[in-house]
Amino acid sequence: MNNHDDNQKNTILNDAEKNLLMDHNYDGIEEFDYPLPSWWLWTFIAGGFFAVFYIYLYNFAGAPSLAQEYQKELAKVEAKREEQRKLTGNFDAAAYKVWNERPESVQQAALVYEENCLSCHEEKGKGDIGPNLTDSHWLNLKRVTAGDIYGFILVGNEDNGMPAWADELSKEELFAAVKYVLSVHNTNAPDGKEPQGVEIK
Ligand code: HEC
Repeated sequence: MNNHDDNQKNTILNDAEKNLLMDHNYDGIEEFDYPLPSWWLWTFIAGGFFAVFYIYLYNFAGAPSLAQEYQKELAKVEAKREEQRKLTGNFDAAAYKVWNERPESVQQAALVYEENCLSCHEEKGKGDIGPNLTDSHWLNLKRVTAGDIYGFILVGNEDNGMPAWADELSKEELFAAVKYVLSVHNTNAPDGKEPQGVEIK
């Protein structure tokens, strides 16, 4: 009497199950010959197809390598940066930061504003010929950053009456104008000109 028969004494198997038993037996351990679950089988087959497709695509069909994809993404970032540089007229953020931290920058900002901008933008930027600079609405900006304000002041909008300051003011004077605009931004002068343009939060 071998192990197999031994086992069967203790295990109650119906006829169908007996037919499914495979004819090997390892130390009394036997197994049924059930088919694989179909979800498993099809996932496995699909995996095989995917592998063939993948190897073909990346080794023979010229799909871009990781390095090439990286370069492509980098080029996109560079294009975006270039676009931004145009918007900000090559605003030197580091130089602005250093200048902005100097105590005399506050006075310089007020002076540059008074001499060049007050005539149109009025006391504390409340607006007159030029728009109110103390609200959160803008005609010409997409983002309220030092760089974007700098870029706009450089070129202005001469058709609508805002001069270009690129040739009139030095770099520091432009910084001063930016600082002044930022300092009155969102102060909402009570007697300010009505909001114009799009609100930027
Ligand atoms: C001759 C009048 C005039 C002077 C001087 C002037 N501006 Fe303006 N400014 C305007 C007008 C008008 C506009 C609105 C242009 C438009 O409709 O797009 C404007 C727009 C602006 C804007 C954008 C506002 C917005 O809603 O988009 C800023 C910022 C600004 N000026 C800053 C300055 C600064 C800083 C100075 C001084 C260096 C200055 N302006 C001098 C007339 C002037």
